[in-house]
Amino acid sequence: MKHTDIKEVLTNASFIGQKVTVCGWVRTARNSKNVAFIELNDGTSLKHLQIVIDKAADIEYENALRLGTSIKVEGTVVEARQAAVEINAESIEVIGECPLEYPLQKKRHTLEFLRTMPHLRGRTNTFNAVFRVRSVLAESIHKYFQNRNYVYINTPLITGSDCEGAGEMFQVTTHGYSTEFKNADEYYSNDFFGKKAGLSVSGQLEGEVAAMALGKIYTFGPSFRAENSNTPKHLAEFWHVEPEVAFAELPDIIEMAEDMLKTVIRELLDTCKDEMQFFDDHFEKGIIGRLEELISHDFGVVSYTEAIKLLQESGEDFVYPVSWGCDLQTEHERYIAEKVFKKAVFVTDYPKEIKSFYMKQNPDGKTVAAVDLLVPGVGEIIGGSEREADYEKLIAAMNDRGMNLDLYSDYLDLRKFGSVPHGGFGLGFERLIMYVTGVSNIRDVTLYPRAVGNIR
Ligand code: 4AD
Repeated sequence: MKHTDIKEVLTNASFIGQKVTVCGWVRTARNSKNVAFIELNDGTSLKHLQIVIDKAADIEYENALRLGTSIKVEGTVVEARQAAVEINAESIEVIGECPLEYPLQKKRHTLEFLRTMPHLRGRTNTFNAVFRVRSVLAESIHKYFQNRNYVYINTPLITGSDCEGAGEMFQVTTHGYSTEFKNADEYYSNDFFGKKAGLSVSGQLEGEVAAMALGKIYTFGPSFRAENSNTPKHLAEFWHVEPEVAFAELPDIIEMAEDMLKTVIRELLDTCKDEMQFFDDHFEKGIIGRLEELISHDFGVVSYTEAIKLLQESGEDFVYPVSWGCDLQTEHERYIAEKVFKKAVFVTDYPKEIKSFYMKQNPDGKTVAAVDLLVPGVGEIIGGSEREADYEKLIAAMNDRGMNLDLYSDYLDLRKFGSVPHGGFGLGFERLIMYVTGVSNIRDVTLYPRAVGNIR
């Protein structure tokens, strides 16, 4: 179907005076005495294109005024008073009718209501803006790494090893329920892979394999977590950006994370001006200014031990009590980012007991070289570390956790054959989108959210 994108018509002045064909869905329509107006959107732009219909002209338009109807319009682009341009229609063809039961009749619907119809909510301004921001950020992240000699690696989604060891793996099986197996071992050895398999919670372990050959790599793909936490920031399927760098220590990883975030947010502010203004107007007043502020200052850095002291001295009445050794809850993370630092802050060197087996053990014997990045409004968006590169120390940490070393033999080999200091992090892509848009529920920054008790 030959037609011009509405974005092009709205932004390219050379169309003025030209005849064009545009397609789209009717967002609103007004029918006055001599003229009718249609606000048309084809998804290429947050802004709609106004179609002006002169009722005296011989144009069939009556069926085109219903919300949600898809139409094709031919007409001339003219300068307009309020918008940059509009189209004086010469012909209108209804492509797909839309009956009155179309649910998106009102101007503004609640996000909860829209969550009940993921197949239609993309046609609202909010989701038009969210999905474009998502797309622009994804491209910027790829560009950031590609421009700096990182190799993009696709790590396996089906795996036999649990990276985080938190017992949150979805099982992958071809076996249904059966009483024919005597025990779990027999059940798994008869399954497709001959052993227990699951969906990967992180590409890190295989990312390390690639980094030990290619030096600097990143992954950008889905991770899966069967977390039973029905919170506004957890999904069962989320997109994960995981760079892994050889010949790097924790400060190098922190520096790269900050530079990457600043670079992609700068590009977002420059590329998605309309969308970011929309979020500033409708979701979080002043968000553009806050992001500008964020990228023009250094992020904070604080050790876990200092962070615990700050929380204990805060006088705040937290739901979860604070003591050295506890995991930081969202309320603690947000207090540190929002009240103490009032900006993004890296928290480093966590107690080894609350972090994963692979993290480099610090000389104090109590902490590991871990880092989380906390941001106002969301809490943690990045989790990373320097990795334990010493074979014996890694084995000891795995034994402490009662892990089955046989499942990790490839990973252990990396420490035997030319081991180097290395590290990386995982950025939750949806959490980044929440942070930069001010959208406060993770279910509203992805096309089809998967969360506990919720799939379609
Ligand atoms: O802190 P996490 O668990 O770290 C890892 O998975 C490491 N293997 C990463 C690495 O070092 N390569 O997860 C990293 C990030 C979190 O900070 C969070 O942003 C996101 O992944 N994340 C989730 N996002 C949405 N829903 C969930 N259920 C998430 N779990 C983690």
